[in-house]
Amino acid sequence: MKHIVVFTGAGISAESGLKTFRGSDGLWEGYRVEDVATPEAWKRDPERVQHFYNVRRKAVLEAKPNAAHLALVALEDKYRVTIVTQNIDDLHERAGSSRVLHLHGLITKAQSDINPSLTYPIAGSEIRMGECCELGSQLRPHVVWFGEPVPAMGTAIGICRQADIFIVVGTSLQVYPAAGLLDEIPVRAAKYFIDPQASTLSRLSDVTCVDDKATVAVPILVEKLMA
Ligand code: APR
Repeated sequence: MKHIVVFTGAGISAESGLKTFRGSDGLWEGYRVEDVATPEAWKRDPERVQHFYNVRRKAVLEAKPNAAHLALVALEDKYRVTIVTQNIDDLHERAGSSRVLHLHGLITKAQSDINPSLTYPIAGSEIRMGECCELGSQLRPHVVWFGEPVPAMGTAIGICRQADIFIVVGTSLQVYPAAGLLDEIPVRAAKYFIDPQASTLSRLSDVTCVDDKATVAVPILVEKLMA
């Protein structure tokens, strides 16, 4: 069975109503990364950081998988499919994809702020200050902040090296180490990049760029790969 690796970013969830990070109207337009998405911000003002992610979590829980998330599930009838996502939403899982690796964590979970390997489900949409892990330390969102290690990177590199077909969807490829996964793709793999700005952003050679929205272009590509 051929192995398809799909590398996704915020753009695949944009049409589910979740904001991307960069560009006009992006999430980082209204916030300074240093104030809400770094370990230093958490030390300085944990309430603010907690609130920021509580609001994001509510939006994620209210969002629904779109036609792009759903189309990727159908590939599993013919291929081994692994989704490597930078997204912290759970829309790939809720669409029904079986193998999803989250490089930057999952907002629907909490983690200990002294031991990141201790993670917990969250009842409802909020983590409250005073809610603690089993070691007695405050719970924080299970997301990888700027400046923190990306524990899933090693696994992701191994997955990307095995790709027969590599599909990139909705990412500006600006954030490392995640964007470095492109350097791990075998030369022989067929490569596709779907993003309204794919042709401008792509630095892959031999790649088919589709400058369109995910809900339009992903179902078309899936249909082609299933034919
Ligand atoms: N369909 C497909 N792509 C889209 C759509 C759409 N409907 N709308 C926007 N895009 C594209 C944009 O053209 C852009 O290239 O989605 C991309 C979003 O880029 P970013 O906002 O930079 O998001 P991403 O690449 O996922 O960011 C990477 O940065 O802030 C951190 O940890 C955060 O995981 C995130 C990482």
